[in-house]
Amino acid sequence: MKHFSNENIDNIARIDRWQKGRQKAFKAIPSTGKTFKYLGKEFLLYPGTFWPFVDSQPLVRNFRIKPEDSVLDIGTGSGVIAIFACYQGASKVLAVDINPSAIKSAKHNAKLHGFDKIMQVKNSDLFQKIKDIQFDVITANLPFRNKFAHDVVAQSQWDTDFKTNARFFEEVGHYLKPNGRIYFAQSNFGGVQEMKVLAKAAGFSVRAIGSAAADQEETKKFFAFVMKRIAARKPT
Ligand SMILES: C[S@@+](CC[C@H](N)C(=O)[O-])C[C@H]1O[C@@H](n2cnc3c(N)ncnc32)[C@H](O)[C@@H]1O
Repeated sequence: MKHFSNENIDNIARIDRWQKGRQKAFKAIPSTGKTFKYLGKEFLLYPGTFWPFVDSQPLVRNFRIKPEDSVLDIGTGSGVIAIFACYQGASKVLAVDINPSAIKSAKHNAKLHGFDKIMQVKNSDLFQKIKDIQFDVITANLPFRNKFAHDVVAQSQWDTDFKTNARFFEEVGHYLKPNGRIYFAQSNFGGVQEMKVLAKAAGFSVRAIGSAAADQEETKKFFAFVMKRIAARKPT
């Protein structure tokens, strides 16, 4: 049986309140949009789009994109990860999301940074609208927590029954080149262990490449992982 201490329950309640407040703030953005700074660069958000935070920074600070790499960014939100992949020299970037407001924000930001010829933005539930293309790199900062999401804004933070994360790992192998790599974000209040189990079951190795905390007490800590196909053993 799982044991929940009072401290755990208090912490879960605090994270719930904080995330609900963030969802309210995403919705309260004016219809003309709001400018924000992320890792020293300016971006624009339309109402209902996930507001970038420390969560994606270990991934963006530690991913390596080679100039000839093609990149697929799943759950792009405002497009920050995809745009930093462009800055690293990616040859082609496809960014997808289910939230129409995120699509509008990411398209705007691709143009703002002069990458609209390299970066395409599409409405797609995970890989649904992606035909038979394989990418060198797949990036994802999906909702971290296994928690019921009542609307598309909540779906930026919560994943009902962890189904989106499970589907991601069931399907990702089809869209990744044989020597490709996945860069994936998670958090100390999210499903890190579940993620590792899903990735390994799908045939991927998992290695931590970075972390960052949003507060001194490290109650909100974020991680980035790189995942690669586990090479099949040669018969002896
Ligand atoms: C934690 S936010 C990350 C946004 C952005 N990548 C960032 O790092 O700031 C998760 C994003 O995943 C999107 N999302 C959730 N479920 C999805 C799905 N099934 N397919 C595509 N995108 C999804 C959400 O709409 C949201 O924009």
